[in-house]
Amino acid sequence: MSGPLAGTIHLSQVTKTYPQALRQVHALQGVDLTIEMSGFYAVMGPSGSGKSTLLHLMAALDQPDSGTIEVADCHLENLSEGDLTRFRRHHVGVVFQQYNLIPTMTALDNVALPGLLDGWSRSRRLSRSQELIDMLDLEGREHHRPDALSGGEQQRVSIARALFFSPAVLFADEPTGNLDTVASQHVWEILEKLATEQETTVVMVTHDPAAATYCREVFVLRDGRISGSFETEGLDEAELATRAQQLGR
Ligand SMILES: Nc1ncnc2c1ncn2[C@@H]1O[C@H](COP(=O)(O)OP(=O)(O)OP(=O)(O)O)[C@@H](O)[C@H]1O
Ligand SMILES: [Mg+2]
Repeated sequence: MSGPLAGTIHLSQVTKTYPQALRQVHALQGVDLTIEMSGFYAVMGPSGSGKSTLLHLMAALDQPDSGTIEVADCHLENLSEGDLTRFRRHHVGVVFQQYNLIPTMTALDNVALPGLLDGWSRSRRLSRSQELIDMLDLEGREHHRPDALSGGEQQRVSIARALFFSPAVLFADEPTGNLDTVASQHVWEILEKLATEQETTVVMVTHDPAAATYCREVFVLRDGRISGSFETEGLDEAELATRAQQLGR
């Protein structure tokens, strides 16, 4: 193979240190990671191991101190400020544990927000928003504001918004951290479907082995480095949890 395929993620020797008053926090200490082609992947590891930091860097929300990051055919270190803005808006989507919806806007308008920011006409962005609302099983909820939606529905609105420009990669940081089992399963099924049917690469940080059973492969972080990875095929939830714990300690 000549090089990474579209949607591939490749990190080489990535480091990130947060300067603190009393001591430096070495959040990432040389991450090497390759995620091939489309698929649904999990990032696991103990609290403080650097999972969120890693996700932020891959989504270009922050920059590494050293090392290189390639996502969806873009070498992030080579991008200008303008290109980085376009990359964040068009090539990747990001979903967090908190849904970060605009409380005064309806579900339909929340999902359409990226189109508004990108100068799309109202009819064009609402038609795209409706398409995503339908895809995420939110029919009938279009005109509800976030406070009239369940946690699971709010998270699906936030996923729909992240998918507005059909990004090659969707990053999710503990997307079901605040949801009950049923709502969580619904979200995992949607993310899995995105990866298998739409060929989106989905990278999800999770503490939950049940979530990781939906993924093809699990990457484990320990002390700011990838300590190992394994494929989930044939593993049940308990076996998966054991594998992740072994690699995480
Ligand atoms: N903005 C920041 N300033 C200073 N230190 C930070 C900052 N963000 C993260 N850290 C530190 O970097 C390390 C890695 O944090 P990170 O949030 O990436 O871990 P995590 O694996 O996502 O943990 P969790 O599972 O608790 O979410 C931790 O020691 C954390 O305290
Ligand atoms: Mg985190």
